Formats: sequence, C-alpha cells, structure tokens
Amino acid sequence: MNLKIEEYASLKTMNTMGLESVARYFGRVESLAALQEALVFAKERHLPVIPLGEGSNVVLGESLDALVLLIRLKGREIQESHNGSVLLKVGAGEHWHSLVCWSLEQKFYGLENLALIPGCVGAAPVQNIGAYGVEIKDRFVSLEAVDRQTGESTTLSAEECAFGYRDSVFKNGLMDRVIITSVTLRLSTTLMPELDYGALKEKAEGFAGEGERPTGMDICRAVCAIRREKLPDPQVIGNAGSFFKNPVVSEEHKVALKDKFSDIPAYKVSEGWKLAAGWLIEHCGFKGCLKKDGAGVYDKQALVLVNHGNACGKDVLLLAEEIRVAVKERFSVTLEIEPRIY
Ligand code: FAD
Ligand code: EPU
Repeated sequence: MNLKIEEYASLKTMNTMGLESVARYFGRVESLAALQEALVFAKERHLPVIPLGEGSNVVLGESLDALVLLIRLKGREIQESHNGSVLLKVGAGEHWHSLVCWSLEQKFYGLENLALIPGCVGAAPVQNIGAYGVEIKDRFVSLEAVDRQTGESTTLSAEECAFGYRDSVFKNGLMDRVIITSVTLRLSTTLMPELDYGALKEKAEGFAGEGERPTGMDICRAVCAIRREKLPDPQVIGNAGSFFKNPVVSEEHKVALKDKFSDIPAYKVSEGWKLAAGWLIEHCGFKGCLKKDGAGVYDKQALVLVNHGNACGKDVLLLAEEIRVAVKERFSVTLEIEPRIY
C-alpha cells in the first residue's frame, strides 16, 4: 500500500479560510502509485475525488462525502537550458512561493510578480493564477495530469488548457476529470521586469540600491510588501484571497456607470471594461463588516471575505450572496465567485 486513508478527517487546518469541514475519506498523495491507488479506491466506492493543494481557493462544506486528496507530489527538474531560457518541470505538490524564491536564487526570471500567492504548483493552472500584470499562462509550457476515471497520464499544452482570466479548461470541459501531477514552465535567464501595475515600480525601486535598477529579488520583495499591506495573512485571519472575480462589462454599461459614479475604476480589456469588484463592494458599504457567525469583509480590501472565528462555509456563502444582491441592485453588475465551492 502506497496510500494511507483516514476516515472522517477534519480539514479545518487544510483550508486557508479555516472552515470546519469533515472528509468522509482523506489521504496524502506523495507518489504516482499512491494517486493510482486512491483513484481505484474512489472508483470502487463511487466517490467523487477532491484534490487539494493548500486549500487557499476553496469554500468547503461541513461534510464532504468524497475522497479528499492532499497532493504532495514533489520535484523540481531543469529539463533544458539554452539561449537564455530554462525549461522547468515542477511537481504539483511543490509550494508555489518557495518555487518563486528558489527560481530567483537560481537567477531564473519570470515568476517574481507572482510571489507570495498561497498554494501549490498543481492548482496554479486551474484558475491561471495572476498578479501584478503576470499570469501563469505567460510562463506555461505544458502539464501532466492523470485521468480520474482511467488512471492514465496525459500531457496538455497551453492551448489545450484554454487559459483565461482566472479560468482554464479545468474549470470547464475538464472540470473534475483530471488530477494535475506536474507543471512545466519556461523561465528566462535575463530579467524582463514587468512593473506597470499600480505602485509596483516605485516600490521595487525602493528596494534597489540608489540609482540602480531593481533586480528580480527586489521585484519579489516589492510584490510581497504590497501584498502584505493589502491582503490578510491566512495564518492570522482566515481567507481565500479575492472572493469574486473582477467583472467585465460592455462599453455602454461602463459609460452609464461613469455618468452616475464618476470615480468608478474601469480598465480596458479585450472583452470590454474590467471593473474593480473591491470598489463596488466597498461602495455598497460592506468593507470591514462582521457578521455574528464570524464571517466578514476585510477592512483593508473589500474583495476579500474573511473568517474571524468559527464561520462555516454556509455562513461565508450567505454573506457572499448578500454582497452579490447589493452590487447587482446598485450597479447592475453580477459578481462571480472565484474560489471553488464544495
Ligand atoms: P486549492 O485551494 O487546494 O485548490 C483550488 C482548486 O484547484 C480546487 O478546485 C482543487 O480541487 C483544484 N486542485 C488543486 N490541486 C489540484 C491538482 N493537483 N489537480 C487538479 N486540481 C487541483 N490567486 C491568484 O490568482 N492571484 C492572487 O494574487 C491570489 N492571492 C491570494 C491571496 C491570499 C491571501 C489567498 C488566501 C489566496 C490567493 N489566491 C490568489 C488564490 C489561491 O492562492 C490560488 O488560486 C492558488 O493557486 C490555490 O492553490 P491551492 O494549492 O491552495 O489550491
Ligand atoms: N478597490 C477599492 N476598495 C477596496 C479594494 C479595491 O476601491 O476595498 C479598488 C481600488 O481602486 C484599486 C482597485 O480596486 O485600485 C484594484 O485593487 P487591487 O490592486 O488590490 O486589486 P484587485 O483587483 O482587488 C486583483 C486580483 C488579485 C491580485 C491583485 C494584484 C482578482 C479577482 N483579484 O485584485 O488576486 O493579487 O489584483 O494583481 O483579479 C486572487 O485572485 O485571489 C487575488 C488576490
């Protein structure tokens, strides 16, 4: 047996919202053989399988009649290095931020803007993680995954992953169909700084020596500093990062909103205008709110729902619905929840 399976396991410390949730079956997967065994175990019992990395983008129900698998497949392999670029294959269970720091220590560039995003490598393509002007799709080459039904391994290209804003094939056509086992990224041995997002340039220059250009590590430090100012540390306050996606509206809708709310932030994107969901929520009066059950909205970033105590998944979703209704009523904008609800 490569796999130890527990029954009725608490997942409270395995999701960053700190929601109490009990898995009917639970296992920690450290090898492909263990993953294969787990899939057979689930198939024999007609159970759904829920793979988890760090649980930083999920809202868990109180009881999950499923086999929950903590994916801890490790490994960092430099597969190719020439002409200033490096092909890096990374196990799905590697810690994302540790990978970012390690890559910078090797002088491999391209992940610095994605520093301090919680979670594991295997979950990063699922919602095409992004921050400060970069998304994983910009560095992505391919991934390996195991089919949950057949147990067979398959390789998917960037095109097959169909990445979009906080979106991929794993949230659509391949939802609940595969377990990602490794991700291959292409990084550069030359730093090509991307400093256009907000105050990043200024912050990164602050970390560089006087008159010097920021290094990859300076950019990483700047990103970490900005993130620590805005986002709650899940070790201190339970949260899942942005709870809603930033909505995209038509030109017409944006003009109508600008007429009424002249300072509403809107950014041009190919499909229309992207609005800041945090602004919409703040202007409905929710910023810093706290419900009796412990669910609330972070006081420094209205896009982040928090668990101050013993809220359960249902409490958080009730608050999310209250927010969605208020935003719809005031701005005629529909907010879409970002984390996966189980
Ligand atoms: P989990 O929450 O464990 O899983 C997320 C989903 O992926 C689930 O549906 C799960 O079943 C699935 N999954 C996990 N592993 C696998 C696998 N191996 N194969 C197939 N499916 C799998 N996200 C951003 O994009 N940008 C940010 O800036 C950002 N900031 C954040 C800040 C904070 C404080 C927090 C708490 C979250 C933030 N997030 C951000 C969201 C989150 O960090 C990312 O979505 C991250 O990739 C989730 O990784 P995880 O390992 O915790 O995934
Ligand atoms: N804003 C407010 N009030 C708030 C929060 C935000 O008015 O309480 C407005 C401000 O105008 C601000 C704008 O919203 O300028 C954008 O805010 P911020 O730069 O904090 O970014 P965001 O849109 O809230 C997005 C991502 C984050 C990512 C950052 C940085 C989404 C859903 N969220 O947040 O990703 O880290 O940009 O790139 O796209 C996540 O996905 O979990 C996540 C944290």
